[in-house]
Amino acid sequence: MTSEKVHVEVCKGVNGLDKVVLREIRGSSAEVYLYGGHVTSWKNDHGEELLFVSSKAIFKPPKAIRGGIPICFPQFSNHGSLEPHGFARNRVWSIDSEPPPFPLNSSSKAFIDLILKSSEEDLKTWPHSFEFRLRVTLGPGGDLMLISRIRNTNTDGKAFSFTFAYHTYFSVSDISEVRVEGLETLDYLDNLQNKERFTEQGDAITFESEVDKIYLSTPTKIAILDHEKKRTFVLRKDGLPDAVVWNPWDKKAKAMADFGDEEYKHMLCVEAAAVEKAITLKPGEEWRGRQELSAVPSSYCSGQLDPRRVLQST
Ligand code: BG6
Repeated sequence: MTSEKVHVEVCKGVNGLDKVVLREIRGSSAEVYLYGGHVTSWKNDHGEELLFVSSKAIFKPPKAIRGGIPICFPQFSNHGSLEPHGFARNRVWSIDSEPPPFPLNSSSKAFIDLILKSSEEDLKTWPHSFEFRLRVTLGPGGDLMLISRIRNTNTDGKAFSFTFAYHTYFSVSDISEVRVEGLETLDYLDNLQNKERFTEQGDAITFESEVDKIYLSTPTKIAILDHEKKRTFVLRKDGLPDAVVWNPWDKKAKAMADFGDEEYKHMLCVEAAAVEKAITLKPGEEWRGRQELSAVPSSYCSGQLDPRRVLQST
């Protein structure tokens, strides 16, 4: 096996769909499907899965894969006239063999560059030409980084606007034992109450019923604490001011064909997003949005992520 193959391997996944496996020397790994440019697995160096993917997920176009990290572009949810969450999550992306260079090069060899361009079909519903480059990197310590670069390639001189989310499904042991820190006291739009604006009260966020909120202008660092697992996920983001928190709970879970009735107990979506203010690009302009995930033992950061500290630290 060549060293290249150890770090990056292109192979077949469920239903013969192409996937890329990233591996780091200490044992962590990640999987990315070309269908959707969709990360479906992120494992730590003990081989434990850190992302939730439904046992009922349908790995078959045109249905987006339920779980992992769907890419929502050019529209978040039903905030516009396109299909919910846009079309990028159910298009087949390509491997980008010659991506434009990044100013900062990580030392990791476990990365893949994907690209999605507008198709004739997509131009009918969203008449804009774009190049969407996605780099997925597994860091030497097992961190997972996604960087999106979206460029307006319109030749008609027109700007375009879009909303965006990395719709990350975290795997948790028991949703009622989970706490999210970093979003307290922030304003949010409640999708369950006609997107009305409220202010979050009290301490860290906990879960006892359905939640579907878009927190606005959040800190760049959010923590998801799983008490039972004694594990904390730390989400860091750039270029993505908002954060969506979603759990369908029991009733909605039962209504989703590609989601088990009880699976809501073992997942939580915390999504680095740009929703409230759409991003506008003139022809030739490029936008970047980055999300970095790490998983650390809870004792490491429990109690340290009070909102003031989160806001102050990088
Ligand atoms: C969340 C939205 O991001 O995604 C929810 O806020 C939505 O409103 C959920 O229900 C799942 O969306 P979908 O299209 O993948 O079923």
